[in-house]
Amino acid sequence: MSGLLRVEGAQEARGEAHLLTVEPGEPRRPGPLALVVFGASGDLAHRKILPALAQLADHDALGDGFSLVGVARTEWNDEEFRKVCLEVAPVESAGGWERLVQRFRYVSGDYGDEATFAKLAGVLAELDKEQASGGNRVYYLATIPALFGPVARALAAHGLAEPGRGGEFARLVVEKPFGSDLASAAKLDEELHQAFREDQIFRIDHYMGKETVQNVLALRFANSIFEPIWNRRYVDHVQVTVAESLGVEHRGTFYESAGALRDIVQNHVMQVLSLTLMEPPSQMEASSIRDEKVKLLRSVVVPDVDEAVNDVVRAQYTAGIIDGAAVPGYRSEEGVSPTSETETYIAMHLLVDNWRWAGVPVYVRTGKRLARRATEVSMIFQRPPHLPFAGKLARDLRPDALTLRIQPDEGISLCFGAKVPGPEFRVRSVSMDFSYADAFPGGTAEAYERLLLDAMTGDATLFIRSDEVDQAWAIVAPIQQAFLDGEPPLARYRAGSWGPIEADRLIEGSGRQWRNP
Ligand code: BG6
Repeated sequence: MSGLLRVEGAQEARGEAHLLTVEPGEPRRPGPLALVVFGASGDLAHRKILPALAQLADHDALGDGFSLVGVARTEWNDEEFRKVCLEVAPVESAGGWERLVQRFRYVSGDYGDEATFAKLAGVLAELDKEQASGGNRVYYLATIPALFGPVARALAAHGLAEPGRGGEFARLVVEKPFGSDLASAAKLDEELHQAFREDQIFRIDHYMGKETVQNVLALRFANSIFEPIWNRRYVDHVQVTVAESLGVEHRGTFYESAGALRDIVQNHVMQVLSLTLMEPPSQMEASSIRDEKVKLLRSVVVPDVDEAVNDVVRAQYTAGIIDGAAVPGYRSEEGVSPTSETETYIAMHLLVDNWRWAGVPVYVRTGKRLARRATEVSMIFQRPPHLPFAGKLARDLRPDALTLRIQPDEGISLCFGAKVPGPEFRVRSVSMDFSYADAFPGGTAEAYERLLLDAMTGDATLFIRSDEVDQAWAIVAPIQQAFLDGEPPLARYRAGSWGPIEADRLIEGSGRQWRNP
């Protein structure tokens, strides 16, 4: 979807950009605008947002009218903020960022203080005049979630939720978490909607910015060979794995109130799952794709709703060894209670109750401190109805599988049976590989570069609509309730393993096995 052109159309009337492909490779640059980052002195700004902007500037992807305003409580002045911006630039910077940084501004103040927003309004008016930001604004909320509603309301109260004089748009970019359950997500939406219309709100799930996640759409809808077998007649089951070898790092306090279900399953897993299993959209544009995603999510059920305990395993890591180094157990991590019951691992069994997928189990698992980092989706196909080989000759034959390797080692592999050279008719599974790095040696853009550019150009395709958020919370709601009731009991796994034995039992109960990457 890169190289897309915004054209006027029916969707535009609903506030959703309607996109058509233009010449491949044609650079896409936002028009004049001021990007305001709340939480500009924080971790997300430092690690992701500023470096992504620096990359975009160096690739000449930010227009001449681009200005940045940092807002935070830290008492910096413009010069100190600019210094920080320069520090995050890539070592081999092309200089584009350095040139832009000279015009960046900083507003220091409390988010609850009227004066902060009055000051911001003044700075934006100045930028419109001096730097030709054109009255267009994009506000990025890189703050703690408790501030999302208050900041949005304060912006509206100061007349900043609408474009400035001569401007065309004011957009609000919000980072997950979008609430902590269905009710709080609805409350957050209500607060945001008091200040901004839904079409002004761009909710980021950074998984949607990954090229390999977007490639799920290319694989399915740019080819004719996969779709005919992408259904219950051919697929035996689906596996989604989001494995991390990292622990909770310095985020123990945050993670204690999140856990794997909220941190990964409700958002990243549901996004990947919906793109993989949804019906074909009529066009590659925001509302068509998001309509299909939400339709798919509406069909997802935890089969044993009353006893999520039978379909869900939750677990926590204990001390172990990763890459040859000893690592502590979760309960010994900084900011974590020594008696914590927070899950760092989940495995679950879902069903998609629709025509295409009826009866096809979807097994999902995610965890921290697993054997290695790997995110992938596998379609495991049904076994042939009859094998004309003696049993022992086909002993090493696994079911055919198509695996989409989201990260790392991005690519796709097809596992199928082949004859082993020799006098016997022995067959075993082999793998045919497509590697992103080999096919596209130029490398791929960081998810945040893509998403920031999309937010600035008004392409909502990769952002999460409020009904998607709600639906994803509705899916995990029975599991959240079971956890509150202390069910299922918290299992343990050793750091550096592939998870608890209970997760193996979950899938093996149906005669299937996890595919370890
Ligand atoms: C974030 C979670 O959303 O995604 C983190 O809060 C997790 O806990 C991260 O580590 C994983 O992202 P990625 O891109 O490294 O797979």
